[in-house]
Amino acid sequence: MTDIQCMAIKASKDDRAFQILDQKLLPQTKKWITVSNTDEAYEAIRSMQVRGAPMIAVVGIFGCAYDVINRTHELEAARLDPLCVTKYTWKNDTFGTSNSFEEASEDDLVKYLTDYAVSALKHVTKSRPTAVNLGNDVDEALAMIEKSREPWQQIGNQLLDFAFDKMTNYQHADTEIGANGVEWTRKQFGNDPISVITICNTGSLASPGIGTAFGIVTCLHAAGLLKHVYILETRPYNQGSRLTAFEAMEKELPATLITDNMAAAIMQKDKCLKLAIVGADRITLHGDVANKIGTYQLAVLSRVHGLKFVVAAPESTIDFRNKDFSTVTIEERDSDEVTKINGQQIADPRIKAWNPSFDVTPPKYIDAIVTEKRVCAPADIPNVN
Ligand code: MRU
Repeated sequence: MTDIQCMAIKASKDDRAFQILDQKLLPQTKKWITVSNTDEAYEAIRSMQVRGAPMIAVVGIFGCAYDVINRTHELEAARLDPLCVTKYTWKNDTFGTSNSFEEASEDDLVKYLTDYAVSALKHVTKSRPTAVNLGNDVDEALAMIEKSREPWQQIGNQLLDFAFDKMTNYQHADTEIGANGVEWTRKQFGNDPISVITICNTGSLASPGIGTAFGIVTCLHAAGLLKHVYILETRPYNQGSRLTAFEAMEKELPATLITDNMAAAIMQKDKCLKLAIVGADRITLHGDVANKIGTYQLAVLSRVHGLKFVVAAPESTIDFRNKDFSTVTIEERDSDEVTKINGQQIADPRIKAWNPSFDVTPPKYIDAIVTEKRVCAPADIPNVN
């Protein structure tokens, strides 16, 4: 397959760049932007033109892959004109032992492009700190590249194949998460349709397939098990109102948008509301879950009101290196996102706002974690087969 597409990304193996849907402009405007290298991918992730843990991972790897491919083409062109080789500031750009492209041997070029790919991959993981999928996928890509025996002209293509495989794997994972989530829900609540509540955007804009948590919501609807879905607006970035509400309307789901401070009220009012389903940006070995700010309060409210609280994520969201969040950075974003709405100042300009992008839900509030491989309690996270 040379082309691949999802709601947020279009890529072709025949091209030198890929396209992402600018999520900052949704739902009013659908604009595709072109990404051809590591720096552009980094900036698209940092500025949140693309977001959601799995989608960030895919965009990061694609950006590096096209970067290496473009660099390979530059080097091929430089065989005719050595002066056209540009140097990069974020990398120690030398050509092996010779330090000159004209004298570089095949081995030097393999080393050069391997180093280039490694630097690009390490660099892109710094774009946003909390979601772990990009870091986990980059570790896999680094292991592949470091033991690769490909000729220098093929290193970029190998990385692009890896990016295509990752995207396909995420698509399959979403489908399995959806099926596992439906099976678990049926076991808990039988065949009577229930209402659910969700936060942030975890659908097809956040993960290459049907989505994770919102993928389960979509599958519940298809299975006749969804009475209604309540979508939290998700201040301050409004992923709920801008993105999830849009996806819900596109998929013709029975949905209502509520502001974040209405969660307890709807739990009190709708007796069919039995389940909260959320995504994850990082799950530690102890089963702590970082997800969009507001997730923790949704978990606490769910416990108080007797709702089940479920986290849905692919296995690549598990951080096997950390037991908890004591050494993990929780991203804090500009206070303007809180004090302004659509660029317009709302709060007194003298006040500073605290704007953490994520919070951490302790395992005691989580009834189940649904991945593509299993449905488990947080305590069983380390016991993967
Ligand atoms: O800041 P964002 O929009 O990247 O945050 C996204 C979330 O918190 C999602 O819930 C998470 O990444 C899971 S996406 C399938």
